[in-house]
Amino acid sequence: MFDIQEIRSQFTILNREVNGKPLVYLDNAATSQKPDSVLKVWNDYYTELNANVHRGIHTLSQLATEEMELSRRKIQKFINAKHDFEVIFTKGTTEGLNLIAYILTQKLKKDDEIIISYLEHHSNIVPWQLLCERTGAKLRVIPIDENGILQLDYLDEFLSEKTKVVSVNQVSNALGIVNPIEEIIAKTRKNSDAYIVIDGAQSAPHFEIDVQKMDCDFFVFSGHKMYAPMGTGILYGKQEILEELPPFHGGGEMIATCSFDGTTYAGLPFKYEAGTPNVGGNIALGAAVDFIEKTGRQNIQNHENALLDYAQRQLLELENIKIYGEKAKRTGVVSFNLEGVGISSDVGMILDKMGIAVRTGHHCTQPIMDFFNIAGTVRASFAVYNTFEEIDKLIEGVKKAQKMLG
Ligand code: ALA
Repeated sequence: MFDIQEIRSQFTILNREVNGKPLVYLDNAATSQKPDSVLKVWNDYYTELNANVHRGIHTLSQLATEEMELSRRKIQKFINAKHDFEVIFTKGTTEGLNLIAYILTQKLKKDDEIIISYLEHHSNIVPWQLLCERTGAKLRVIPIDENGILQLDYLDEFLSEKTKVVSVNQVSNALGIVNPIEEIIAKTRKNSDAYIVIDGAQSAPHFEIDVQKMDCDFFVFSGHKMYAPMGTGILYGKQEILEELPPFHGGGEMIATCSFDGTTYAGLPFKYEAGTPNVGGNIALGAAVDFIEKTGRQNIQNHENALLDYAQRQLLELENIKIYGEKAKRTGVVSFNLEGVGISSDVGMILDKMGIAVRTGHHCTQPIMDFFNIAGTVRASFAVYNTFEEIDKLIEGVKKAQKMLG
């Protein structure tokens, strides 16, 4: 039974006011709010358990280690990884993508190719550009049409024995478009030996994720967009690939033996977890998974899709609204502009005065903005605790902005 008031009651922050108005938080694609259960787990770690993991014989260190490893197993189940050691704790999607691009350096040479898409966040563009600079490889970009839909004919054309990496997001953060990753993965497997990387930053909070069924080589996501603290994230990689590739950061935890004659590396997952991890955050990420499982992933998806549908219909009833990706399959995001109002941040400021939080600007996706020949959009993005009444307030705010700025 899906009870929105019961869900909202788990998020203390939703009771606060902003600018004298009840908070309407519609910036969930930037970061979601955290339920009290997650904050309690995080706080309990620091008040009762704080110790470094995997290093101590003492009780607290062992308890902290057990809690963090339990969280790893929860995440393994959450994404259906075959082994818990294929789940690497990172500080977020950006670190995960940079890690992959770095450890693949030796695998690429001049004139090899990396395929990404026009819909990528800068964090799934720049690490590959840096890899190209290091190796002489070339970036190829799958274009979009006027609805923001990927033009997969180009993928067919691009794929060849030169393709070494295909890296795409499952859901676009700027437009909320759900990309056909099953088709992308199938085409890539058929026509190349490329490593397949999926950026799940905007899908993990909303969808059932099954990395084995998906058959990707890497899957990365952030904790903070799925009800967990900032500074948490996951890199999933297939065992045989992670075992073969070199480490990323060097330091404590990632070694088996270290001497001046040479160092040998720890097994997975520790080979990729140098230094003291974000123990409290990683444990709290497990609590966020508990929250999602308890709420029900299908319930979350159904509710967020209903919100998106409602928001889109209401917006389209207004005059002079342009929704980007209007006709594409989307989830959790409506990205729009008021025609004749050039600066999305002006709209954002009016909404903020009404207590409504949205993101404005380019959303770290300048190529998409360039494609549509705009500087930015107003983006409302939803989580399980948002309500239809909040969408009504958004619409009221947009009407006010139209009057004030039009
Ligand atoms: N990548 C985040 C967003 O889309 C921060 O807002």
